[in-house]
Amino acid sequence: MFFVSLLLCCVLSRGVYGDASASSQENEDFLVAPKYLNNGEIRSLFARLQEEYPHLARAYSIGKSLQKRDLNVLALSAPGEDASAGDLLRPVVKVTANIHGDETLGRQMIVYLAQYLVKNYENVGEIQQLLNTTEIHLLPSCNPDGFAAAKEGNCESLPHYIGRTNAAGVDLNRDFPDRLDSQQQIQQKSLNRQPETAAIIEWVLNKPFVLSANFHGGAVVASYPYDNSLAHHECCEDSLTPDDRVFKLMAHTYANNHPIMRKGNNCNDTFTDGVTNGAHWYELNGGMQDFNYAFSNCFELTIELSCCKYPPAKTLPGEWQRNKQSLLQLLKLAHIGVKGVVKDVNGYPIHDATIVVSGLEEKPIRTTRRGEYWRLLTPGIYNIQALAFGYQASAPQQIHVTNDKNVAQRLDFTLSPIETNYDGISSFYSPYFFRH
Ligand SMILES: *[C@@H]1O[C@H](CO)[C@@H](O)[C@H](O)[C@H]1NC(C)=O
Ligand SMILES: *[C@@H]1O[C@H](CO)[C@@H](O)[C@H](O)[C@H]1NC(C)=O
Ligand SMILES: [Zn+2]
Repeated sequence: MFFVSLLLCCVLSRGVYGDASASSQENEDFLVAPKYLNNGEIRSLFARLQEEYPHLARAYSIGKSLQKRDLNVLALSAPGEDASAGDLLRPVVKVTANIHGDETLGRQMIVYLAQYLVKNYENVGEIQQLLNTTEIHLLPSCNPDGFAAAKEGNCESLPHYIGRTNAAGVDLNRDFPDRLDSQQQIQQKSLNRQPETAAIIEWVLNKPFVLSANFHGGAVVASYPYDNSLAHHECCEDSLTPDDRVFKLMAHTYANNHPIMRKGNNCNDTFTDGVTNGAHWYELNGGMQDFNYAFSNCFELTIELSCCKYPPAKTLPGEWQRNKQSLLQLLKLAHIGVKGVVKDVNGYPIHDATIVVSGLEEKPIRTTRRGEYWRLLTPGIYNIQALAFGYQASAPQQIHVTNDKNVAQRLDFTLSPIETNYDGISSFYSPYFFRH
């Protein structure tokens, strides 16, 4: 009898939580006595994790809020096979939350994720593999002042959006440069830009992120770009990126691994399979998601986690179990597609070269200072070219992407200089790209 029930327990836990080999040894002691950590507590926790796990964790701040609270980040990564090459071609990803200060669940999910990853690195192969090959940056709160003004248990925003906005009453998720803004509008916005937004913009432009999730609340759905559309209809019309296939894969990966989101029927909303295009749901200008995709190499999803914006802390452990697999599977998508290095004929890396994929020319990807690029792609046959100012374009390279391993396919380029003086500007230098 004893053995039968033991077996049943494990079969059940495999069904609900996915990775059964891991579940028996997982350390989730951080779920005991659940509470939302305030900003100072997050800062202390991250400092402590760095001290306890110096080989895995590094705490830093990307700046301060209006009321001088730190925007705390924990970066996680383990020395894997690429360590001797200085982690060359290791993709960098991020998870952020709480840009609306009263949408709090994602904030605490990120605090849990940080602890889950470091505490289980030793014993869970899946986590070891992820941290050995991926650099993960976690920003639990983009709006710590808003959070400090919000009230636990409030499912809707307070009057005048206290808590949703920052301390100056600005909705930070409307404060980013928008791909459809004119140069003049971008200039105008930058004059009044909030310190939280400015810090996030600098961070996104200066780290080579390839994939990102940002958490919200008030619905349960995975929403993919664009949020803004040329049509400027309030809703109900898709506004799709050239990389729609990758974004749909990301959104479905999150939703399908979430037992409630995937049903698509929550909070009196209906979203087929728990995913939606942002503009189809409701249109917005100046959001962080569109900014990431249009102004950097980072493919970002907006993920709404709960009907109630600030649910009671006792719901946190259950929510962690619902979101854990979704998070892990989403982060692994940093390894789909193609990656490589662009060098000159002397073997020096070329910074700011563009990688152009046939059919996806509208979204060139730029190389890092070390000449690295990552091009997320769904399975298929692609022609890929590298271009750089002052160099002859590479011949298009055909590659068959299968995504059947946990590592992107490698495709390097070597470019020869142009002999004569070149006074044109490559059309691949998009005016939107890296413009503040
Ligand atoms: C992670 O990297 C370490 C150090 O290189 C190695 O010993 C370990 O086997 C790796 N784990 C996995 C799952 O690849
Ligand atoms: C859903 O709609 C019903 C009827 O309009 C309402 O009573 C209920 O509070 C709504 N539920 C949510 C979660 O908004
Ligand atoms: Zn929100």
